[in-house]
Formats: sequence, C-alpha cells, structure tokens
Amino acid sequence: MPLEYQHLISNNLKWAAQKKAAEPGYFEKLSMRQQPNFLYIGCSDSRMPLDTFTSTEPGELFVHRNIANQVSITDINFLSVLDYAVHVLKVKHIIVCGHYNCGGVTAAYKGQATGLVGNWISPIRDLAKEYAAELESIENETLRLNRLSELNVIRQVENLYKTHVVQRALQKCHSDFQIHAWVLDLSSGHIIELPLPDGLSHK
Ligand code: CO
Repeated sequence: MPLEYQHLISNNLKWAAQKKAAEPGYFEKLSMRQQPNFLYIGCSDSRMPLDTFTSTEPGELFVHRNIANQVSITDINFLSVLDYAVHVLKVKHIIVCGHYNCGGVTAAYKGQATGLVGNWISPIRDLAKEYAAELESIENETLRLNRLSELNVIRQVENLYKTHVVQRALQKCHSDFQIHAWVLDLSSGHIIELPLPDGLSHK
C-alpha cells in the first residue's frame, strides 16, 4: 500500500528523536557543514536511494539524479552539481550508478517514451542502435535490457570525461578523484562494479 502523506511527517519526528537520543549533538554537527567524499549520479527511480543501499548517512553522498542517470553535457543543472562537487567539495569518487529494470532504459529501447521524457532518453535509443548486434545476440529480453543498462552507465562515464569540469581538473592535475561505473541489481540489492573500457580512466 502506498505510504500516506502524514506518515512522512510522523516518521520524520520519530527518526529525528531516535538520532538525537543515539547521538546528542548529531543535528548541530550535521547543520554546520557537509564534507562528502562521493558524488552519486543516479536514476530518479524511487528504488534507487543509494544511501540506503550503502548504509551511508546524511553528509556522505552528494547527489544528482535524473531519469536513467544521464550525464548530459548541456544540462546546466548537472554541470553545476559536477563543478561544485569537483572544485568546491573536492569529492574523492564520482559514481555513475544505473540499475537493472530501469524504466527509462526499457522505454528508450522499445521506443515507448514520448514528449519530454522521450527527448531526454533519446541518447539511450541511439546507444541501443549503436550496440544493436551485441544486444540482439542476447535472446533473453531481461538480460538484453540489463546489458543496455550497463552500456548506458559506461556511456555516461564517457560523457563525464567530455565535460569541461573533468577536462579542466585533469589538465590542472586536480583530478584527485576516481570515476566508477555501477549498476544496482534490484533483484538482489547488490551493487555491481562495471569494468571501464581501456582508455576510459585517468588513474
Ligand atoms: Co531507472
């Protein structure tokens, strides 16, 4: 049954009281500053709260999420997040995290999305065409879509390297961060670290 609105408020009160009881001064400390080591770029999907999957606390993940975890080099929202994470917060790791059973990936593959969403995920449709031979060789449709989710994450890492922010950081040797490609297997709850193709790494 979907959660009722009022539960959000009552849950919040309970959670804040528990936190405070466990660690007096927790919220005073939390409100002072953030010093996250990680930038998480993920899908907006409600099943993708990475802090839950990694048991991380408020203050540990700097987050950008959009439909199908796109790294769009023309998205001023995303680019601002990336710039701030790299140059101000100086995160140590940038994680692009997709997931299996991604509605955005499925819709792109099947050509089902229209309007703004269709426009947003059209790069995945192009990617599927680019990798048509590999994808068509996978008979099982779930596995084929899983593979497309993986290819999508790797493509977004490629895009990350094309951004001015990452380029500038690499040129100035300020690249004190590693870039990671992950997919979350929702059927097991496990993170899968994807190997990056040769040449797609700076460490
Ligand atoms: Co998704």
